[in-house]
Amino acid sequence: MPRRRQYPTNADRQRAHRDRQRLQTLAPGALQRQIDPCTLYCAPAELLAPLLPPAGAIVTDPPYRVGLQGFDYTKPRRRPAQWTQNFAGADQDFDPTPWLRFPEVVLMGADHYWDRLPCGERAWSLLYWDKLAGTTPADFAPGEWIWLATATPPPPGVITHLWRGGMRAGEENISRLPQKLHASQKPMAVMRQLIRLTTACVILDPYMGSGTTLVAALREGRSCIGIDLDPDSFAVACSRVQAELQQLGLFRRGQEAALLSREEDESLLRGRDVLAAAVDLLTPALPDDLQP
Ligand SMILES: C[S@@+](CC[C@H](N)C(=O)[O-])C[C@H]1O[C@@H](n2cnc3c(N)ncnc32)[C@H](O)[C@@H]1O
Repeated sequence: MPRRRQYPTNADRQRAHRDRQRLQTLAPGALQRQIDPCTLYCAPAELLAPLLPPAGAIVTDPPYRVGLQGFDYTKPRRRPAQWTQNFAGADQDFDPTPWLRFPEVVLMGADHYWDRLPCGERAWSLLYWDKLAGTTPADFAPGEWIWLATATPPPPGVITHLWRGGMRAGEENISRLPQKLHASQKPMAVMRQLIRLTTACVILDPYMGSGTTLVAALREGRSCIGIDLDPDSFAVACSRVQAELQQLGLFRRGQEAALLSREEDESLLRGRDVLAAAVDLLTPALPDDLQP
């Protein structure tokens, strides 16, 4: 049996080889996983910034220092804490500079690094994600500011989506997802809403964590590139993307099958019409007094 070609053309194979070489020069030891149409890297994002397509849209939830002491995701609240340590970067100031050269940029948690955003230089806007959605304030962040510099930034507004500890709206509701996949996992519905505000074909998340942005991008029909320096997050993101693509594949195959069976139904109907016409033609006309 002939071997399946990994690359459609020689040029594609050469390009992939050049990309691998560039990757190893920029970040020796970086891992790369291609799960078409997604590329995932395990490496420090800042080193890989030059590899990213310049026309892509950055949609990311970066790590940043939360408060003076930092937010402790390992602190138990009602239930025992799920995480034994905070994720990388939660104790450092975030510098958005490497990502601001992209034509479309959506940054979550912007209230933690206001002073580094170029608020005078390009069209930008703000959205407030209201996480309490009308519930009583508790020991959880009431909301989060999102900074957007997109082709046509929307007017400032509010996204309401319940997200306080175990109380989560949408597909991450505790009945569907009892344990979160990442200490700072974001809701799929919110990420999809943000991606819809961008126009680029490729969505870039340099701090992908468990890969929520990538899955959201796939659901919005975009390709995506994600980076995380933590190998565990990288593994979770890879398996999420793979599972999503399988689902989408099954869904597409289901849609195609439904389309085929509709076409079959239609041709069957057309066949029946032809048959009925033929029967009409071949049946000798009954005398008028014997017509039913
Ligand atoms: C706030 S979390 C993202 C969570 C994600 N939105 C989700 O839904 O799962 C930030 C992620 O950035 C990663 N990170 C921190 N510093 C990084 C760096 N320099 N390069 C790449 N990833 C980094 C952390 O490991 C963490 O997984």
